[in-house]
Amino acid sequence: MLETLTRVPPDPILGVSAAFQADPSPDKVDLGVGVYKDEQGKTPVPRAVRTAEQEVHAAQTTKTYVSPTGLPSYNALVAELVLGSDHAGRRTDLSLAQTPGGSGALRLGAELLNAARPGATILVSDPTWANHIPLLGTVGLKVDRYPYYDAQNPSVLFDRMIGHLDAQPAGTIVVLHACCHNPTGQDLTPAQWSEVAAVVARRGLMPFMDLAYQGLGEDLDRDAASVRLMARAVPEMLVAVSCSKNFGIYRERTGLLLGLSSDGERAGITTGHLGRLARTLWSMPPDHGAALVERVLSQPALRQDWMTELSHMANRINSLRGLLAERLSAVSGVDYGWVAAQRGMFSRLPLSSGQVAFARDHHHLYMPPDGRINIAGVSPANVDRVAAGLIAAVRS
Ligand SMILES: Cc1ncc(COP(=O)(O)O)c(C=O)c1O
Repeated sequence: MLETLTRVPPDPILGVSAAFQADPSPDKVDLGVGVYKDEQGKTPVPRAVRTAEQEVHAAQTTKTYVSPTGLPSYNALVAELVLGSDHAGRRTDLSLAQTPGGSGALRLGAELLNAARPGATILVSDPTWANHIPLLGTVGLKVDRYPYYDAQNPSVLFDRMIGHLDAQPAGTIVVLHACCHNPTGQDLTPAQWSEVAAVVARRGLMPFMDLAYQGLGEDLDRDAASVRLMARAVPEMLVAVSCSKNFGIYRERTGLLLGLSSDGERAGITTGHLGRLARTLWSMPPDHGAALVERVLSQPALRQDWMTELSHMANRINSLRGLLAERLSAVSGVDYGWVAAQRGMFSRLPLSSGQVAFARDHHHLYMPPDGRINIAGVSPANVDRVAAGLIAAVRS
């Protein structure tokens, strides 16, 4: 039977890592990976998470199953982190399910939406995270795109985005990156978010927000402001939350699907469907990462320490943005201030796949073919080489 399968094309991002490993040059720089890196080029486990790990291990007396929707105290703490202490006024309308990472939340949300409205249209930004379409488009929903990024003049194509959303029929699902847009780093301003929320509410669209980088753009509250604003504007929405990056627990597969329904009665029905759907996907979510997050968020000293370390990570990324923008501008004589103004780990340089290959072959700079760079791969020690190589590639 398996002989009917054809070979899967290599994953472009994993291919970049393999090529990087194989390059013997001491000057090589990996700008391709999708994880945070510190000054030493390591992806750290935050101190508070390490402490929580010891405490959870010491206190754990059983490894029996959690439930299909996970650990209620974890779900409640993460929901509060996202919506704020007042829950954006929606405390009684919530449906929560712990998921294997943000990816699991996206998939569970897509399954829920397809159960509610089979074959509905789901719009993603153009461009979007490479895994959105595979995750969302294989459940029966029809995936399409809305205009988002102007690569030649790095900015949001806001008028075209709003015009496109304003022309959609009610019930169209719209995936929105809540902060730190992946792959472009180009976020909406608070004023633009207000306009998007107004159009979404007026047209009866269904927002599905993806919050994978809370705390890594500006801070925990400002990065979730778009979600809170939307929660006040619309009767129903979904949010896919990832704890992978901000808690540094990527492989522990920890996320949350947060649903808002028009009232508490509907929220209870939605929660029932989330449990049933989770049962058909992974039965029960993995426990360890959620137990760590629950511990960190519920113990004031750990929470404070985690917040300090997280804000150091965000500040580091933003100061590297400033440094890279300054060097790119100095080398090229062109204003690269947009690199400094963007947020999150990624920016996308206006490079063709041929120019990306040039950067790799002539300057040992590694990034995926779409020109997305991980800002955390830049450092004060390599920024001159990175800027010179990137500008040489732009001119090649
Ligand atoms: C935009 C976006 N959404 C969701 C995710 C999912 O993250 P995970 O499944 O690792 O928690 C990522 C990870 O890179 C992402 O960039």
